[in-house]
Amino acid sequence: MNTENNQWFAEWFNEDYLKVYSHRNDDLAAEEIDFIIDTLDLKPDLPILDLGCGGGRHLRQLFLRGYRKSYGIDLSTSLLREAAKESQTSGNLIRADMRSVPFKTKFQAVLSFFTSFGYFSTEEENLGVLKEIRSLLLSNGKFVLDLPSIAITKSLVPRSEKVIGYLRVVEERQYIAKTRRMEKQISIEGPEGTQEFLESVRVYSFREIRQILAEAGLSMVGVWGDFKGNCFSHDSSRMIIFGMRNDACVVLNG
Ligand SMILES: C[S@@+](CC[C@H](N)C(=O)[O-])C[C@H]1O[C@@H](n2cnc3c(N)ncnc32)[C@H](O)[C@@H]1O
Repeated sequence: MNTENNQWFAEWFNEDYLKVYSHRNDDLAAEEIDFIIDTLDLKPDLPILDLGCGGGRHLRQLFLRGYRKSYGIDLSTSLLREAAKESQTSGNLIRADMRSVPFKTKFQAVLSFFTSFGYFSTEEENLGVLKEIRSLLLSNGKFVLDLPSIAITKSLVPRSEKVIGYLRVVEERQYIAKTRRMEKQISIEGPEGTQEFLESVRVYSFREIRQILAEAGLSMVGVWGDFKGNCFSHDSSRMIIFGMRNDACVVLNG
């Protein structure tokens, strides 16, 4: 498996990604947004940012619930094109890199859904994303990070194959303990040949994520194992973190 592509995220999130992950749909996003609105007590009149909004499924749900000051940023032009099909949200989408988000607006919440964090090959860059989240938040603003948990690395299916329309998709997975990254090689065979993509995500333990959040001036308030409100435990496959901008923490850490 080739795990050497540091820019994998700029290649993989394309039209094929939307096909392979079509089960991650608006119905699931609706449940997740209901949970988040309720738990974070989000106000319809204050801005919200979906960081790595992809095809816009969460943004659509926010708009449907009257949260019209919601914005999405993403690096992928293909996914933003998909998100812009919904005319109501199309004016609230911006192409940007999550390491440097060009917004002067401060948000009541920054939301990062479905493993949109831990993409960069250095810890400085991943920490940089958290610092960026902090700088985008209002004082006492809230954030959500929806991450894979360490437990999932112990039950990875090494190889799977599926057919989606006229595409044959082969996915090979491994966890590399040395780099603490989950790697997936995706091979998509279609009428025009075969394309190869890589997915490479840093997987954080509970302790590690709490540490890196603190370094960024963010504090963890609660952790769930799913969007139904079940608490995170060491066998949860997801680690859904709710936290806040912590101004005191930054003063203390200098
Ligand atoms: C796994 S997808 C999740 C998309 C969306 N949050 C969802 O739940 O459907 C990760 C998203 O992060 C975006 N992304 C990857 N690298 C990025 C970067 N450096 N800056 C901004 N967005 C990025 C991808 O284009 C993709 O839309």
